[in-house]
Amino acid sequence: MTLAIETSCDETSIAVIDKTKVLSNIISTQYIHKNYGGVIPEIAAREHLKSIAFLTKEALLEANISMPQIKKIAVTTQPGLVGALIVGSNFAKGLAIRYNIPIIPVNHIEGHIFSGFIAESNENIIPSFPIISLVVSGGHTAIFYVKDFNNYDIIGTTKDDAAGEAFDKIAKLCGLDYPGGPLIDKYAKLGNKNKYSFPRPMINTNDFDFSFSGLKTSVRYFLQKQFPDGITADDIPDIAASVQSAIVDVLVTKTVNAAKKYNSNSIIIAGGVSANSHLREQIVEHSNKHNISCIIPKMGYCIDNAAMIGYIAEMKYSTNNNFYKLDFTVSPNNMKK
Ligand code: KG4
Ligand code: ZN
Repeated sequence: MTLAIETSCDETSIAVIDKTKVLSNIISTQYIHKNYGGVIPEIAAREHLKSIAFLTKEALLEANISMPQIKKIAVTTQPGLVGALIVGSNFAKGLAIRYNIPIIPVNHIEGHIFSGFIAESNENIIPSFPIISLVVSGGHTAIFYVKDFNNYDIIGTTKDDAAGEAFDKIAKLCGLDYPGGPLIDKYAKLGNKNKYSFPRPMINTNDFDFSFSGLKTSVRYFLQKQFPDGITADDIPDIAASVQSAIVDVLVTKTVNAAKKYNSNSIIIAGGVSANSHLREQIVEHSNKHNISCIIPKMGYCIDNAAMIGYIAEMKYSTNNNFYKLDFTVSPNNMKK
């Protein structure tokens, strides 16, 4: 039985996992950041501090488990906002001392990479390695070549903005609230994706890297030229659908190309942007065309969540007994290509 803790950004999440079965996965999103148009690190840490003990009680209650039944703690230690990560890891250390149980520090991105494997029942999805994993969120956009749970390489990453950041910044240009990704998705359903033609940056390069800041700039110039008096609510659906289509085309093309180049029969997508309905639809369609199977995580495992942290800790623990005590620290850094 594992208690998993995730506090790397603006979601406080606690999960209880029985081997790989998720008994509870409580996610509390800090909506306070909407007031500032982005996540404020200092506020994020204080909000985690306010809610973490209460959410832990909730997660235990929902799982019908008491603390003495917990045999280990999994906690996100990198990458993320340092103050936010410290709240989760120190809370984990306090519990570990109190109940004399070990802690497994977890890399948040590893959690995302494997989040599509999490099954709600005891029957696990058995992944067929090697897998190509696209991790797309507000902070990260990268493609991984995954050989097994302990062995993977990053084969492409963004040179500037993450895909979620591009969604959010372009939404802001259209006057939409933060985070804009889900709103672009919503308005795009009402619009024509072929109405405007936006660039697909780096879609034809031979690598698996991305660049989204040029797209944001080109949308800014387009809006100034096309709508000198500002856009109205009626204009948003076509713009949203056209922008979404540009971003998704690049993500899907690069991911499928990676699977072909690396002879991988499976693709898995993860991270907040993997909740995007057009991405979910297109990645399945294009994978199928090339006889590649595609794993799409359940919505609750797309955004930041503790279940994915507990899951990967369990997979690593059961394969290499990689236990740690209390002498670990947190880090803002992601893995480098
Ligand atoms: O993984 P996540 O919850 O947090 C991190 O950034 O780590 O991802 C949040 C990002 C935001 O940029 C948000 O706009 C984007 O995921 N997002 C979406 C959708 N849902 C969330 N982007 C496009 N379409 C969506 N449906
Ligand atoms: Zn994340």
